[in-house]
Amino acid sequence: MEDILDLDRYPLNREGSPEWQRLVDESKAALAANGMFNLEGFLRPGIADKAVAEIRPVMDTNSHVHKRMHNIYFKPSIPELAPDHPALRKVETISHTVCADQIPGSTVLSIYEYEPLVRFLAATMDKPQLHVMQDPLARANVMGYRAGEALNWHFDRSEFTTTLLLQAPEVGGDFEYRTDLRSDDDPNYDGVAKLLEGRDPEAKILRIKAGTLNVFRGKNTAHRVTTVEGNRERMIAVFSYYERPGVMFTDEERIGFYGRAA
Ligand SMILES: [Fe+2]
Repeated sequence: MEDILDLDRYPLNREGSPEWQRLVDESKAALAANGMFNLEGFLRPGIADKAVAEIRPVMDTNSHVHKRMHNIYFKPSIPELAPDHPALRKVETISHTVCADQIPGSTVLSIYEYEPLVRFLAATMDKPQLHVMQDPLARANVMGYRAGEALNWHFDRSEFTTTLLLQAPEVGGDFEYRTDLRSDDDPNYDGVAKLLEGRDPEAKILRIKAGTLNVFRGKNTAHRVTTVEGNRERMIAVFSYYERPGVMFTDEERIGFYGRAA
């Protein structure tokens, strides 16, 4: 793993050492202050390109195209909102997905399963333990966004999302987010409507470099990836970890996300 991850800069393999603790503390402080932390240069030079080269053949020929109109909640309706409420405005998401079972032995999967990474992430999220997912498709995914494609406004289902950007596009494909647009007690539907109408001055854009690990708290922070332009596909690995071991998707979830049950 020494050749893949910059363990000099990010000493995940020295758990409990002062430098490991410092990295955990800084990451937690950033999560508390900004709802995210970024480890830029997490991958050694050349590794993101190598990972992309491994995935490109299956991405080009055998990825699952997911194209859908949805609202920010990914729900058909919200009981307390009229169907024409502007917070329910529909947006379009188009992406290509490669599942874990399509990339056995890949660099991406070896990083996903690297135990010091899993333990470091648990420490930054204040969890006693995290576990890789058992689901052969869902555990780690690589999402591709080509020209004209975007991941539109949404809130995440899970408390934290861990991603690793493998390839940035030439233009567009930026991560845009609006911190704490809602809270567990206040859905702020008018604020949601304002954001969807492009009238929220607090929406921020983050341009991430390839090779950066990002941990993001997206349950109440609305976010999207803007439309990609140009010939270079945005490619990002999405890692799913859970507090309990052995987590699987249902067949229904697999069909919904990937178009197949197995
Ligand atoms: Fe998300």
